[in-house]
Amino acid sequence: MAASWFWDRMAKRYSRSPVANEEAYQKKLEVTRSYLRPDMDVLEFACGTGSTAVAHAPYVKSITAIDISKNMLQIARSKAEAAHVTNIDFKLSGIEEFEAGSQSFDVVMGHSILHLLEDRDMVIAKVHDLLKPDGVFVSSTTCVGGGFNIFKLVLPIGHFFGLLPLVRFFSVRELKQSIEACGFEIDHQWQPASGSAVFIVAKKPA
Ligand SMILES: C[S@@+](CC[C@H](N)C(=O)[O-])C[C@H]1O[C@@H](n2cnc3c(N)ncnc32)[C@H](O)[C@@H]1O
Repeated sequence: MAASWFWDRMAKRYSRSPVANEEAYQKKLEVTRSYLRPDMDVLEFACGTGSTAVAHAPYVKSITAIDISKNMLQIARSKAEAAHVTNIDFKLSGIEEFEAGSQSFDVVMGHSILHLLEDRDMVIAKVHDLLKPDGVFVSSTTCVGGGFNIFKLVLPIGHFFGLLPLVRFFSVRELKQSIEACGFEIDHQWQPASGSAVFIVAKKPA
């Protein structure tokens, strides 16, 4: 499983920090909800402190929410309990080793995670396999493409010294190429502002 120490240490602070752009977050929830139906089984990988899963739970049959950090999951479970949500199954697992049959889910969500993966192409291919035909992959990803950016200098150094998790740098174009190369069709794409995370809904053709 990918290293969890950073996220275990960050969990409390992460749960207390406000959403960077509340209006954009609400719009992403709304767009996602337009794809949901009460008979659907949903997977969210890297669910963090569970806010997105808790928000969508009333609109679907079940959500399986996985994360590598036990501290993130502990907070997520308390949030679900406080909201009286009972159809989320929280599990400690990385997406790489998560076991479920092919075509198990109608919707897979992965927010603020694709840039943190060792091998995003492998994970996107796995998501494609986990989805039923006509299923959708909903993601929101920070893309830092070509050109100089201070983060491209600082983050790898922090990772080298074991202070920060791995962060990958790629452009929106490269991300879309990865998604399409796995057989998805982009159904919806939205970037609230230049430099902000790109929100993509990709469909697995029937
Ligand atoms: C930036 S947070 C995003 C949390 C949440 N999705 C959100 O949008 O607020 C990244 C999360 O991914 C989890 N994570 C990192 N690598 C993972 C992996 N390979 N599989 C599953 N979860 C992972 C971390 O533990 C952390 O909770």
